[in-house]
Order: sequence, then C-alpha cells, then structure tokens
Amino acid sequence: MAGANTVFFCKECGYESAKWLGRCPGCNNWNTFVEEKVVKKSSSKSSTRSFATPFHEKAEVKKLNEIVISKTVRISSGFEELDRVLGNGLVEGSLNLIGGEPGIGKSTLIMQVCGNLAKTGKVLYVSGEESEVQVKMRADRLKVVSDEILFLSETNISEIESKIEMVEPKFCIIDSIQTMYDEEISSVPGSVSQVKEVTARMMYLAKKKGITVIVIGHVTKDGVIAGPRILEHMVDTVLYIEGERFFSHRIVRGVKNRFGSTNEIGIFDMQDIGMVEVNNMSEVFLSDAPQNLPGTCIVATVEGTSTIY
Ligand SMILES: Nc1ncnc2c1ncn2[C@@H]1O[C@H](COP(=O)(O)OP(=O)(O)OP(=O)(O)O)[C@@H](O)[C@H]1O
Ligand SMILES: [Mg+2]
Ligand SMILES: [Zn+2]
Repeated sequence: MAGANTVFFCKECGYESAKWLGRCPGCNNWNTFVEEKVVKKSSSKSSTRSFATPFHEKAEVKKLNEIVISKTVRISSGFEELDRVLGNGLVEGSLNLIGGEPGIGKSTLIMQVCGNLAKTGKVLYVSGEESEVQVKMRADRLKVVSDEILFLSETNISEIESKIEMVEPKFCIIDSIQTMYDEEISSVPGSVSQVKEVTARMMYLAKKKGITVIVIGHVTKDGVIAGPRILEHMVDTVLYIEGERFFSHRIVRGVKNRFGSTNEIGIFDMQDIGMVEVNNMSEVFLSDAPQNLPGTCIVATVEGTSTIY
C-alpha cells in the first residue's frame, strides 16, 4: 500500500509519535498510546493545511494595519446561561465543541439551541448516532418546531460537505464527531486521526462559508474512542456539560474561548421537557441540601461572574 504509515497517538491529548511510548510527553498520562494506520489515498488534501486559507488559494502577505475586520456577529443560543458561557452568544463562523459523558444531555441541549437558532437562519442537524425518528421524537418532546431545521443522517464527511454546499445552512450541528469519518483515512471512526481530520474539515467550512458549527463529542472514561480533549486546540470554543447521574442539575463549563472569558459556568436542570436554565443557581444546591442538619454548612464561592452559595 503506497503511503501506508503507522503512527501512535495519545488518545488523551492527541500527541503524535512514530513509536509507542509508555508515558505521554504531552500530558504525562501512562498507557494512553494507540496505534493507527494513517493512509491517505490522495495527496490533494492535507490535514496540516491552514484552516483559514483554502488549499487551492495562495495566502498573501498583508499589512496587519490594512486588514479590515468585519463586525463580529453574535447569535443568541436562546439561553442566557449558555450565552454567558459563550461570551455573549455564538460567534458567526465559529466552530464550537460541546463535550460530555454519554447520556448527560448533549443532544437535548443542542436540539433546544437549534430551535432558537432557526429563528435566525437555516440549521442543518447531522446525526451519525440516531435515526431520523429518534431525533424527531426528541424534538417533539422538547417542543422544537421549525421549518428551518433540516435533518441529515450521515457519517461520511465528504457527503456532509456536499449537502452543506447544496442547502447552504447558516448553522450546522455534528452529532457526534466520533461517528464521522473521512473515507481517505483508513482508521475507524472515533480514532484520533479521524476525529482530527473531520474537525479540520468542519473548521475549514466554518471559516470559508461563515457557517456557525457546533460539534458534539463524547467523553468516555475507558477511552476506547478519542475524546474531545484532543480537539481543544483546533476549535474556537470548548464547553463541557457536567453532572451527576442521580441529580438533575447540569453545569455547562467553558474551558476554552477564543472570543471571551473561559471562567464562566451555566446551570441547567434536566427535565422531561429538556434543559431548563437555572438563573439563580444557589437555589438548586440549597434546596437539595438537608435543612438544619448538624454538620452541614453553606459556602459561598465565585465561579466566573456568578456567586454560588
Ligand atoms: N422521555 C424522557 N423524559 C425525560 N428525560 C428523558 C426522556 N428521554 C430521555 N431523557 C433524558 O435524556 C438523557 C439523554 O439525553 P441526550 O440524549 O441529550 O444525551 P446525550 O449526551 O446526547 O447522550 P448520548 O451520549 O447518548 O448521545 C437521558 O439520560 C434521560 O435522562
Ligand atoms: Mg446524543
Ligand atoms: Zn497525551
């Protein structure tokens, strides 16, 4: 096989090495290296290309002073709690990664966000996880109804790209990055090389066409699939949904933001009608706590710009 090549990747941080390593020099974790065959059938595209410049166009050297900045357009997600974490809404043409453990509510929250984004423009929801019936059932339960939301069940990134060219959405959701693949790469969906390549191609589309992209990524403890952490350096914003299995509150935490602060959190309550934002977060935690129980105490902490008791 021409161009066949074995590379070792750290599945925690994406560190690349020609040989297996016991301890990752990138993140210091032990036993995180996995072997992947990297076969690129065509050399026309390279995953190392710049996100900002199409590979067929030559970049020009410009005076920084003469670069014209178009006004940053921010679009509300429809949730104050989420907008705050994003730094006042989603930035047009940005790539946003939202991670979380299986079942935590990623698809739920993003479907609700779709309902709000659809008021601004066409939304293309691409799922490689669930059938159209499953997604429709969730949308119905969440009362998300709009003619501007389009659904595509697809996992091949080239097909997704051509559908995007066709329908020209303003927003695109990828649920989830671990199910998508590039047919020119021989490793399985969810492998480090696949998730990186698919993300790079979505990033390129976001920048070229000004599409606002939300990519969903699974965080798993066993680490069989490559986690969203390896994508953190590639994307514009990174959010994680956190929560405990037996409690309904969910915390959305910003860990990276090219357009704002990363110290913010947003609090939601997971209900059957979907994620309900909690504007007074102290209420959730205090109401869960036993009253007048000896040995309990209330602590005030500051997270970002919010005070929690
Ligand atoms: N009919 C329902 N009523 C109330 N809550 C429900 C209902 N159906 C699902 N849920 C809740 O939604 C959760 C799943 O949410 P969601 O599918 O958004 O998670 P996810 O993070 O996308 O998970 P996955 O990893 O499976 O994609 C379930 O764990 C459950 O708590
Ligand atoms: Mg899901
Ligand atoms: Zn590592």
